[in-house]
Amino acid sequence: MDFSKLALKYKTPLYIYDFDYISTQFYSLKEAFRARKSLICYALKANSNLSILKHLAALGAGCDCVSVGEIKRALLAGVAKYKIIFSGVGKDDCEIEFALKEDILMLNIESEAELKRVEKIAQNLKTIARISIRVNPDVDAKTHHYISTGLKKNKFGVDADTAKKLYIYCKNSPFLEPIGIHCHIGSQILDIAPYSDATAVTATLLRSLKALEIDIKFFDVGGGLGIRYKDEVTIEPYDFAQAVLANLGGTDVTTVCELGRFLVGNSGYLLTKVLYEKHNGAKRFVVVDAAMNDLIRPSLYDAYHEIEAINKNGGGTLADVVGPICESGDFLGKDVLLPQLNHGDLLVVKSAGAYGFSMSSNYNSRLRAAEVAIEGGRERLIRKREEFEDLIRLEKECLEGANEENR
Ligand code: LLP
Repeated sequence: MDFSKLALKYKTPLYIYDFDYISTQFYSLKEAFRARKSLICYALKANSNLSILKHLAALGAGCDCVSVGEIKRALLAGVAKYKIIFSGVGKDDCEIEFALKEDILMLNIESEAELKRVEKIAQNLKTIARISIRVNPDVDAKTHHYISTGLKKNKFGVDADTAKKLYIYCKNSPFLEPIGIHCHIGSQILDIAPYSDATAVTATLLRSLKALEIDIKFFDVGGGLGIRYKDEVTIEPYDFAQAVLANLGGTDVTTVCELGRFLVGNSGYLLTKVLYEKHNGAKRFVVVDAAMNDLIRPSLYDAYHEIEAINKNGGGTLADVVGPICESGDFLGKDVLLPQLNHGDLLVVKSAGAYGFSMSSNYNSRLRAAEVAIEGGRERLIRKREEFEDLIRLEKECLEGANEENR
């Protein structure tokens, strides 16, 4: 990838995504589940750029959405309605209504209160809501505590016994049709055992529902497959699929997975320009033009992202790579081995395709980065760099409105 050329053309900070890599990841998953009917739903929250969605939709992906905004993005990008799932622990009435009217595949329910709400709204709309229930299997995914979701103490889902009661309730409701079972235990998972354990819990439930003549068609194992940021040993798609399928003998369900990071994480690079170096005593800092508002993972989770200097020889000394934001937590990397750098030199932050741009903000009134796709060796802009006018548009209208009223 010619980072220097891209920086010259599109300026920095710049997100760059390798679309061919995304295709490879998608096909490796599809292949792993080949023995069964499968649906791979991309978890939009990892990166919801419309061009990425369109790319994945063309490969046959569905989408796992957690807000109306995400559903609208998926629809706009051409994702088939019957491949869209609506997840999330707190859905607003208007979001439920929207999902039901759009007739997406299913709503993923996380509590009894939510189920009743969906039933009421379906009744008002004179329709039947297709649902799945998120089971909290009380399994430790052994990942960062902020992104672990399958333990009893987490806010997500309901235990298997409660889920069973809810399914029975659905069976007796004219407005609810249970078609799926869902489970998602966390993100950046590197250990296969929690997947086997969680799937065993939901597969047992699946069988007991069958005995009650509740016909579940979609077995959703969630997302969470970890990727390599540094030297992690990751789970192979084949082993992931085998861990799931081993629990499904004798059943005829479509397996669904909702992966985000696995599909896009290592496709992405954040390109940033060195502003200057500074030393505070013995401590070396490289100040760059990207910041925590562009990539918050290092600040928020102490996450590691490899950082490399472009067109420089290796070696050097240790430095913290920091942004211009007025917080000590604003760093992209700590103790990174870097050569002597000058104003205008480029650094690339790797593995930034997932939860990078999608968690970016305008903090410090900084304009969000542009995004570029590389596909078949060719590049194209997929999001323009924000301009000051974008930043203030909604406030400016109010300011002008207030001035008008005062006149
Ligand atoms: N399904 C559900 C219900 C989820 O909550 C998530 C992620 C996924 C699927 C996709 O997980 P993935 O395959 O991407 O691991 N911001 C954090 C990650 C938060 C994950 C939230 N849920 C980070 O930067 O590491």
